[in-house]
Amino acid sequence: MAIAILDPDKEMVNVLSQVIEDIGQKPAGFSDKGKFLDIINPKSHNIAIISDVFKDVVEGVKEVYPEIELIAIGQGDGKNLIRVGATCYLKKPFKVEDIQQTIIVLLKGPKGDRAQLREEFVMADPKMMDILKIISKVAPTQAPVFIQGESGTGKEVIARYIHNHSKRAKGAYIGINLAALPDNLIESELFGFEKGAFTGAYTTRIGKFEQAHEGTVLLDEITEISPALQAKLLRVLQERQIDRIGGKGPINVDFRVISTTNRDIDKYIKEGKFRRDLYFRLNVIPINIPPLRSRKPDIIPLAVHFIRKVALREGMEEKILSEGAKKALLDYSWPGNVRELENALERAMILTDDTEITESCIMVGMEASLPDSLPRAGLTINEMERHLILSTLESVGWNRTKAASLLGISIRTLRNKLNEYKEKGQNFDTQGVKTSNNKILYP
Ligand SMILES: Nc1ncnc2c1ncn2[C@@H]1O[C@H](COP(=O)(O)OP(=O)(O)OP(=O)(O)O)[C@@H](O)[C@H]1O
Ligand SMILES: [Mg+2]
Repeated sequence: MAIAILDPDKEMVNVLSQVIEDIGQKPAGFSDKGKFLDIINPKSHNIAIISDVFKDVVEGVKEVYPEIELIAIGQGDGKNLIRVGATCYLKKPFKVEDIQQTIIVLLKGPKGDRAQLREEFVMADPKMMDILKIISKVAPTQAPVFIQGESGTGKEVIARYIHNHSKRAKGAYIGINLAALPDNLIESELFGFEKGAFTGAYTTRIGKFEQAHEGTVLLDEITEISPALQAKLLRVLQERQIDRIGGKGPINVDFRVISTTNRDIDKYIKEGKFRRDLYFRLNVIPINIPPLRSRKPDIIPLAVHFIRKVALREGMEEKILSEGAKKALLDYSWPGNVRELENALERAMILTDDTEITESCIMVGMEASLPDSLPRAGLTINEMERHLILSTLESVGWNRTKAASLLGISIRTLRNKLNEYKEKGQNFDTQGVKTSNNKILYP
């Protein structure tokens, strides 16, 4: 699929072609209307960028090939072009990022689609634009991709983007979190088992690799697997074959592998905790996602995206960020990265009745102050309970119904507990739930 361009200015056609190539797409540029009309075809073009000089072409293409998305560009306000079928209009001179973002959004499907919004990969920082260029180039290939980044930086978002833009997009995308499961379970999850292979194997079950046949396997938190499993995994990657537990022989599987970690893999290798040969197999294309604090230009676009996401999901009006709120978002260090930002905006949207999100609605520092591992000696049962309740609420975006069900208590009990904390004037965790101006807030 290529992106067709029609503009009388040859220089403009060249610039646009370059900009399109930079995000890993194929351009087909023309200054001549006749030549453009000879080639335009939905089988080979999914998007066309057309100058407002050729309003008749916009109208004609929309009528004959409604499936081609049209981006009109020009000097005026563009209303008449939208009226005759352009999906969007960009006024010259526009920024390279604007046209790239527009193309990226259009490539992902119909505007305003909920599924699309959920999967949207938002970015504005040049470092992330560079990553986008790399993953756009790599996505259509079979190369294994190794994604590193702190927790919450968007590793899974990128893994899914790669799958969705690969030749395997119609195949399955199967993820497994290797940190969450014990060894023996990981093995049966990955490779499957035959009926009767072990006590409790009442039926034959296929594993993740087989499920991902002709698709993509995401090995999430790869550094967490045992040496024995590392050896097995290496063999699977070399042979492209798996053995079901208790199976009769190897089975060929066609998969692409993407792995992620939020650990320092070099350290793991140096300490002998992770096999170098396995790492070489997995790390053909390395992607390092920078933490959010070092890509400030992403913060406000992401915040706006999350406001929109909550508004869509909850059927609420979108809210505006005040200048103070924006500053608070930009000043904070986001140790929990994009996930923490998403939670903060979700809280602000749900707990603010106003149409504007002000600085005092931005509560930060919750994720960072929750304990890493539970339980910890020195905490009382009450403190533990409070931590558990708050971290559960946090993990489900303060949805009390969900939290109560996860905790195995009634919503009434949950509400009583929260009221109790409030009455006692207890902070919502040991360090307190701080707003950006250091007020303590209680939802
Ligand atoms: N660039 C982005 N655009 C839109 N949403 C994003 C982006 N990056 C991250 N998110 C959102 O932030 C949350 C965390 O992202 P994700 O799960 O991909 O992080 P992760 O790096 O896999 O984290 P962890 O290491 O904890 O597994 C998700 O809800 C995801 O949708
Ligand atoms: Mg993840």
